[in-house]
Amino acid sequence: MILLTGGSGLVGSHLIYDLTASGERVRALKRKSSRLDIVKKIFRWYNPTGYEEQFEKIEWVDGDISDIISLREALKGVKKVFHCAAVVSFIPSERPWMLKINIEGTANLVNACLLEGVEKFCHCSSISAVGRPDTGTWVDESLIWKTSRKNSYYSISKFGAEREVWRGSEEGLNVVIVNPSVIIGPGDPYRSSARLFTTVKNGLRFYSTGATGFVDARDVSKAMKELMEKDIVNERYIVNSENMSYKALFEMIARHARVKPPFFKAGPLLSEAAWRLEKVRSIVTGSNPLITRETARSANSNFQFSNEKIVQDLNLSFRTIEEAAHNTAGFFEMFAEEGKVR
Ligand SMILES: NC(=O)c1ccc[n+]([C@@H]2O[C@H](COP(=O)([O-])OP(=O)(O)OC[C@H]3O[C@@H](n4cnc5c(N)ncnc54)[C@H](OP(=O)(O)O)[C@@H]3O)[C@@H](O)[C@H]2O)c1
Repeated sequence: MILLTGGSGLVGSHLIYDLTASGERVRALKRKSSRLDIVKKIFRWYNPTGYEEQFEKIEWVDGDISDIISLREALKGVKKVFHCAAVVSFIPSERPWMLKINIEGTANLVNACLLEGVEKFCHCSSISAVGRPDTGTWVDESLIWKTSRKNSYYSISKFGAEREVWRGSEEGLNVVIVNPSVIIGPGDPYRSSARLFTTVKNGLRFYSTGATGFVDARDVSKAMKELMEKDIVNERYIVNSENMSYKALFEMIARHARVKPPFFKAGPLLSEAAWRLEKVRSIVTGSNPLITRETARSANSNFQFSNEKIVQDLNLSFRTIEEAAHNTAGFFEMFAEEGKVR
């Protein structure tokens, strides 16, 4: 039996789909408030004729990664764990909650796995938990994450979570960690990286000057699944398909969503002004800011991520981001025709 956390999210839903498609028995931890309708829609998108039967095979259990009792209960009889639950947020008011869920929640799960004798644990981390070079733009797994004012709170939370996983490995848990770049794939259009797609589709006018790595959600799932099947332990892998500018990505999304691409360049100076204005607007209106200092700065930074290690160890070939954008646009279009996804 496999336990998966975060099954109602972008990564988790793709992973449950792949695991159930290959006949694995999957128990998925969800919260009472978790929405499973989008997971079902994702199943339908990939398997239009057999999705209901496949979806029924999942054993959903209620729990929370901040509640160790629910974790121990969910782990009964489980041999392998995929940990995809986390808070992905750049909103300042959500920082304390995000740090708690991502770091303490991971510690709780690692401890429960040690107590319940789990055989192998796959943790979904992020490129934000990998170090950055002092000079140049090339990033691989060997770089050490350093404390810096430039780190976002999300990055701090993901690095803290990884430390808990490495601590678990010191205490005897077999672990493997993936560090995906920005994930493109079908999901809740108002959540996590799927929001990028929605923002461009809704007529984003500005593009930033930065560049980063992007990867198809299906390839993140494939990498996690294969790493757990192979005899690989205590390793971490950057999971990235292509490095490209945000401008190129936005143009690609706009083409697939059949909307106009963003046309105003928002360089560092304009972005600095924009997040400050957004901060004032969010205080006055009480709503969440659309741009924050962290998102503005990261959208103007420029890094490239190596996928050499995972390509070599798994012989993995990645889908292009063009394919990822096509798949995601198709999903959103199909469900927009059936009425709003949310
Ligand atoms: N999306 C990206 O571009 C990206 C890139 C690199 C790494 N990652 C990592 O990939 C993982 C999955 O991200 P995602 O994009 O799939 O995010 P997502 O779509 O926002 O999904 C997050 C999942 O975590 C669950 N969750 C949150 N708090 C929880 C709690 N206290 N207890 C139990 N479950 C909880 C959510 O459940 P509810 O449905 O109940 O809220 C949801 O299933 C995260 O570790 C993230 O850091 C994401």
